[in-house]
Amino acid sequence: MRIDILTLFPEMFDAVFSLSIIKKAVTRNELELHLHNIRDYSQDKHKRVDDYPFGGGAGMVMMIQPIADCIQKLKAERSYDAVLFMAPDGHTFNQQKANQLSLYENIIILCGHYKGVDERVRELFITEEISIGDYVLSGGEIAAMTIVDAIARLLPGVLNDATSALSDSFQDGLLSPPVYTRPADYQGYKVPDVLLSGNERLINEWKFEQQLERTRNRRPDLLTEI
Ligand code: ADE
Repeated sequence: MRIDILTLFPEMFDAVFSLSIIKKAVTRNELELHLHNIRDYSQDKHKRVDDYPFGGGAGMVMMIQPIADCIQKLKAERSYDAVLFMAPDGHTFNQQKANQLSLYENIIILCGHYKGVDERVRELFITEEISIGDYVLSGGEIAAMTIVDAIARLLPGVLNDATSALSDSFQDGLLSPPVYTRPADYQGYKVPDVLLSGNERLINEWKFEQQLERTRNRRPDLLTEI
């Protein structure tokens, strides 16, 4: 899968993309990440990428020209399955959306900044607008990283244990059960006996009960959706 990210702050992605699961996905050639600095496409003599809003109002608006030129250049090189715009007024991201995006071949992610982008960018180029939650970030970069991370761990061969992405919270509509590792007794705080029993059926039953209980306590809304 190839992901092209349009941003005013490509450096923000350096650490996140060079470590852990995303790095693994890239090293294994399951994921190709390309960062594009929107400012490089500005035709303004001062390389400006934003301007005052027509009709007044607070904040600057990202101009269409640099974004349009960058998207058009990419689209001339290959076809894209989706052009995403990260925005607090988009559809809320969830595991189902991550699963769907992970099946795409090529996607573009546009990160907004300032007060927004010229509405014509959304009309002309964007196929999906995605929010990572009901709060406003300073820009779409952290939201884009969130989405890339959620996708990377779903790509084939990225996680060691073939079942581990499938057993993530939300994949079956339930939260994950608690997990434990050594020592079995930490200063009197013990791991549940059943996990040490070696009885796979009882362990699976216990895990499922824990999933239900956690979901009931923490996210009852998920149970009504099943
Ligand atoms: N940009 C600013 N806030 C955002 C959010 N909540 N989700 C996605 N992109 C954003």
